[in-house]
Amino acid sequence: MKNQRILVAGGTGYIGSHTVVELQEAGYNVVIVDNLSNSNMEVIDGIEKITGVRPDFVQADCTDMPAMEKLFDSYPDIRGVINFAASKAVGESMEKPILYYRNNLNTLMNLLEQMAKHGTKGIVFSSSCTVYGEPDENPVTEAAPIKKATSPYGNTKQISEEIITEVISAGAPFKSVILRYFNPVGAHPSAEIGELPNGVPQNLLPYVTQAAMGIRKELSVFGDDYPTPDGSCIRDYINVVDLAKAHVIAVERMLEDKSDDKVEIFNLGTGNGVSVLELIDTFEKATGVTVPKKIVARRAGDIEKVWANPKHANEVLGWKAATPLADTMRSAWAWQQKLRERGIM
Ligand code: UD1
Repeated sequence: MKNQRILVAGGTGYIGSHTVVELQEAGYNVVIVDNLSNSNMEVIDGIEKITGVRPDFVQADCTDMPAMEKLFDSYPDIRGVINFAASKAVGESMEKPILYYRNNLNTLMNLLEQMAKHGTKGIVFSSSCTVYGEPDENPVTEAAPIKKATSPYGNTKQISEEIITEVISAGAPFKSVILRYFNPVGAHPSAEIGELPNGVPQNLLPYVTQAAMGIRKELSVFGDDYPTPDGSCIRDYINVVDLAKAHVIAVERMLEDKSDDKVEIFNLGTGNGVSVLELIDTFEKATGVTVPKKIVARRAGDIEKVWANPKHANEVLGWKAATPLADTMRSAWAWQQKLRERGIM
């Protein structure tokens, strides 16, 4: 049943591209739709180099309903959808809330409407641990309460989860697997694809690799006065290839009707909390490269500590984060070096 068609919205982005590789390696046919607003066509070359297969690609904006109608009409064999197409910078969402609500929610609604019309079996949705806010206890299970979102970005994830659940309760003829990612990091071990932030990186690991490369003068560690063992914030850093593999399992689960539940939610994390200072230390030991850094004030809106209880995904999906953090750090550094070789950064 593997050679079925999967539509990957946002498939040239960071997590999307790694997932396309895993889907193709598992034998699925992929069509990517992406507007290239935060990625480029070279990603397709990277996917082809790794897998030997060039995925079909349609350049279109998922908020454009006629374009989505045309896409589904021209690929009547689409059986499943994975939706990565979204804006994801927390800070930018505070400045441009309408852009975030429009991009993230209209994209989802357009895909759901087309799926219902075209008999698609299911959608895997990229959600985030941001829905838990500052959790009352760690590690966090899927039963933890959803906290009021502190950014429009976070709110789009909460609302998207609600839209999917409500559309399916109202009788839409498909299933959904909602995946709540913790902090995805690293790159494909081939260094053919990886994360390519636009401008100054907002996320920790791209900043670490750019500071290590000398592109940035020094990394600012946002706060060392949190009530954590070393005073810096704690997160659950999950390898992007491990994360991508969970999507393949989720797709198969929907396409093969392995669950009676129409909507399922899974945390995707390692189960280990790692502090900012520990992450930097792991990077330095794994690569032998020093990261210039200074401690600065806390970043507004940061969560103090959050890490996953991944038991539900481990047991029900049979999926487990397998890559050691040191290997993930080496993959991120190899990717940064590849960007330098290519003259990109
Ligand atoms: C947040 C959201 C996540 C969202 C992501 C998108 C939470 C818990 N997580 O991730 O859902 O998908 O933004 O961008 O709300 N740090 C530094 N220096 C830096 C950059 C980061 O010290 O230059 C620290 C931060 O303070 C934080 C950690 O590194 O403690 C991770 O930060 P980041 O990579 O931005 O991810 P989150 O804020 O966890």
